[in-house]
Amino acid sequence: MYPAANTESWNGVAKSLHWLMVVLILALFILGWMATSWPLSPTKLKLFFWHKSLGITVLGLALLRILWRLTHGRPPLPLNMPRWERYAAEASHVLLYGFLLAMPLSGWIINAAANFPLKVFRLFTLPAIVAPDKALQSLAQTIHLSLFWIFASLLVLHIAAALRHHIILKDGVLLSMLPSLREEKTP
Ligand code: HEM
Ligand code: HEM
Repeated sequence: MYPAANTESWNGVAKSLHWLMVVLILALFILGWMATSWPLSPTKLKLFFWHKSLGITVLGLALLRILWRLTHGRPPLPLNMPRWERYAAEASHVLLYGFLLAMPLSGWIINAAANFPLKVFRLFTLPAIVAPDKALQSLAQTIHLSLFWIFASLLVLHIAAALRHHIILKDGVLLSMLPSLREEKTP
C-alpha cells in the first residue's frame, strides 16, 4: 500500500520531541485561554503558572529540536514529490520552528514587561527579558495573541498536509513520523 518512495523513518529522538511538543502545545492553547478568561482568583494564578512553565519548557525543547535537526538532518521526502511541494514543506517547517520560539519569547516579554517574576515549575526563576513597561506589555499581548492565530492556522495546514500524504498520496510520510510503525533507518 505504501510504495518505497519514502522508505526511511524519522529518528526516535525527532519523533519523541515532535509528539511531546504536540501534547504541550495543545495543553498551552487550553491553559492560555482558560487563564485569560478565568476570574481573578488563586486558580487563575495557577493556570498562568502552568501555562508559563510549560511554555518555557517548549522554548527549551524547541532549541533542542532545532539543534538536533541541524546536526542530524531528515529522512528523504518521496522521490516523486514535485519541487514546489518540497519547498512548501521546507518553508512551513521553518515557520513552525519559528513559532515554537516566537510564542514563548513573546509570552516571556509580556511577563517581564508586566513586572511579574517568571517561576518555572517552582524549580528556578528566569530573569526579566525586558524592563517593566505597560505599553510594551500590551503590545506583546497583542503579538502573543496574533501569533497564536497564525500558528493555529499553520498547524491546520500542517495536519491537512500530513493527512493528504497518508490518505490521498499514500506515500508513507505520516507513517515516518508515527511511533515505531516503520523500521528506522536514519541515525
Ligand atoms: C508555545 C508556547 C505558548 C503558546 C502556544 C501560548 C499560547 C497562549 C494562548 C493561546 C493564550 C491566550 C490568548 C491570549 O489572550 O493571548 C496565551 C496567553 C498568555 N500567555 Fe501564552 N503561550 C505560550 C507561551 C507562553 C509563555 C512562555 C509565557 C510567559 C512566560 C506566556 C504568557 C502568557 C500570558 C501572560 C498570557 C495572557 C495574555 C493576555 O492577558 O492577553 N505564554 N498564551
Ligand atoms: C502542535 C502541533 C504540531 C507541531 C508544532 C508540529 C511541528 C512539526 C515540525 C516543526 C515538523 C518538521 C520537522 C522537520 O522538518 O524538522 C513536523 C513534521 C511532521 N509533522 Fe508535525 N507538528 C504538529 C502536529 C502534527 C500532527 C497532529 C501530525 C499528524 C497528523 C503531524 C505530522 C507530521 C509529519 C508526518 C511530519 C514529517 C513531515 C516530513 O517528513 O516532511 N504533525 N511537525
